[in-house]
Amino acid sequence: MVVQDSVDAPGVPLEPFLHQVGGHLSVMRYDEHTVCKPLISREQRFYESLPLAMKRFTPQYKGIITVHLRKDSHGRLSLVANPLTENRGPFTVSTESAAVAIWQTLQQTAGGGALPLAQWQHPQRAHSLKESPAMALLRSELHLKAQVPSLVEDANGNLMEKGSFNPWGLHCHQAHLSRLCAEYSENKRHRFLLLENVVSQYKHPCILDLKMGTRQHGDDASEEKKARHMRKCAQSTSARLGMRICGMQVYQTDKKHFLCKDKYYGRKLSVEGFRQELYQFLHDGTRFRTELLEPIQHQLQALLSVIRSQSSYRFYSSSLLIIYDGQETPQMPHGSNAIKVDVRMIDFAHTTYKGSWNEHTTYDGPDPGYIFGLENLIQILQGIHEGQ
Ligand SMILES: Nc1ncnc2c1ncn2[C@@H]1O[C@H](COP(=O)(O)OP(=O)(O)O)[C@@H](O)[C@H]1O
Ligand SMILES: [Mg+2]
Repeated sequence: MVVQDSVDAPGVPLEPFLHQVGGHLSVMRYDEHTVCKPLISREQRFYESLPLAMKRFTPQYKGIITVHLRKDSHGRLSLVANPLTENRGPFTVSTESAAVAIWQTLQQTAGGGALPLAQWQHPQRAHSLKESPAMALLRSELHLKAQVPSLVEDANGNLMEKGSFNPWGLHCHQAHLSRLCAEYSENKRHRFLLLENVVSQYKHPCILDLKMGTRQHGDDASEEKKARHMRKCAQSTSARLGMRICGMQVYQTDKKHFLCKDKYYGRKLSVEGFRQELYQFLHDGTRFRTELLEPIQHQLQALLSVIRSQSSYRFYSSSLLIIYDGQETPQMPHGSNAIKVDVRMIDFAHTTYKGSWNEHTTYDGPDPGYIFGLENLIQILQGIHEGQ
């Protein structure tokens, strides 16, 4: 649907992406096979000079759009994309979807567009976002969990269950919109990156977001930021395993909903806790999905050889997504070798390599932290496999 925006340019409302398991800013759904996220030049440059060997392990890069904030007559906030002419064809975004219905319901329950949603589950998380003390107070008194009605109706009267989407994405979306609203005028154009939605092929996408490596700060980080990141690595499995859980959703076939875990949960895990969580990620509520182990291990091995062949790259703060379908289809019974899994690298906002623009620091050889993480992941999965 094409609508007029506040500055009389045609635009398309973006939908919150209901399968965002990690990250801090809002990832939006652009169309069925495309998501978009706020543009960071470093990430854009990475995608534009992506080595061929890495392409099968990253989302396809689809270009750039500009986006602006819009407030409707009820004070509800949304983001509207202004397509650039060089981008491909007509938009297929619908405003009638369940995602929009959920988002509007949340904004209404929160009492208006500019009101930030609560931190869900743990109100003490409020300090992690830049906000006024008044907002923080408000935030701490509300709980997203309580605000999401157990059933949300979309424009076609279809009911969508609370457990069918990940509250983390809505949390990021609300915080991001509130911040944009506070800091910029509605006419401000924000640039967003268009990326292939790597979970669009899955009916019930089970997603594990692993932040890879033993170091997360980019070379351009301030001393304060560097110290903060180093502390988080030292206190989490990042130091010992070269990875930590940054978010997860796993479909529970018995309860017909997603079990969701966020980055705060992942940061607290011990090595044994990490192993158990990995096991949980492959458990559908009724049984452990043994048949997924081999395809995942196979893809991780293939990724490992690609990473070993990439000299000078350092994927600081990048994530690895492991994806499979939570609901086996009748055509694909377990035990068949046609099981679809995906292993995809995302988030290159702090990736550095020789030849990248304006680098003061460069590195030789492949990324040791990433390789350490991948080798450990393969080994832990092997351990789970042997225990089966
Ligand atoms: N191309 C994509 N396809 C599907 N989901 C994605 C894609 N990119 C990001 N996501 C989802 O959004 C989350 C945050 O993405 P990320 O790029 O790490 O954002 P940030 O820069 O805010 O950390 C991921 O955990 C994942 O669930
Ligand atoms: Mg990220």
